[in-house]
Amino acid sequence: MEELNQAHSVMPRIGDPAPNFKAMTTHGVIDFEEWRGDSWTILFSHPADFTPVCTTELSEFARNKDWFAEHNTKLIGLSIDSIHSHIAWVANVKEKTGVYLDFPIIADLDMSVARKYGMLHPGESTTATVRAVFFIDPKGIIRLIMYYPLNVGRNMDEIMRVLEGMQISDKYGVALPVNWRPGAKVIVPPPKSLEELKDRENMEGEKVDFYLIKKDL
Ligand code: BEZ
Repeated sequence: MEELNQAHSVMPRIGDPAPNFKAMTTHGVIDFEEWRGDSWTILFSHPADFTPVCTTELSEFARNKDWFAEHNTKLIGLSIDSIHSHIAWVANVKEKTGVYLDFPIIADLDMSVARKYGMLHPGESTTATVRAVFFIDPKGIIRLIMYYPLNVGRNMDEIMRVLEGMQISDKYGVALPVNWRPGAKVIVPPPKSLEELKDRENMEGEKVDFYLIKKDL
């Protein structure tokens, strides 16, 4: 297990630059940085093609593709499967359900991208990636990471909520409280100086104390 841990030990963290790579995908070979451009990007791994939970998850990404495009966000999947398997699976899902998985899916047979992103968790599986989700901002910085085990599918509402939340937080310089939903009150970030503390005295909003003020956007 120790050897396996070392082989799979690279784990990018929040705030790190997204590691670059060149890879074969269902849209041809891409250079990740070039392909991302100045969009937000969601890079997600699934354990294997032709498996039920993964089919529901990737289909849900595809169903919401317009919402992601409206939020300046590109989608890209990955698993340790061949390009032929990906193509056959995409065609099969389209034929059986009408849903077209039309974002690129990386064929990471040599596990090189999975290793760069810490998507292999050997206690869970040494051959299949866990259900990882990396949110990468337009500057190429990893802003949020989710890991789910093999047997539990991700929650698309939460993926969309946190993406929108980060975009709002960046745009308006605000923080978001527990269970925040779009349209709900936001939090004025805590003061970082005595001057900022003074500004709070007359600030409009729902004030609990100087460090917790909620307001409408
Ligand atoms: C699934 O997607 O259904 C799945 C894949 C790998 C292990 C367990 C479930």
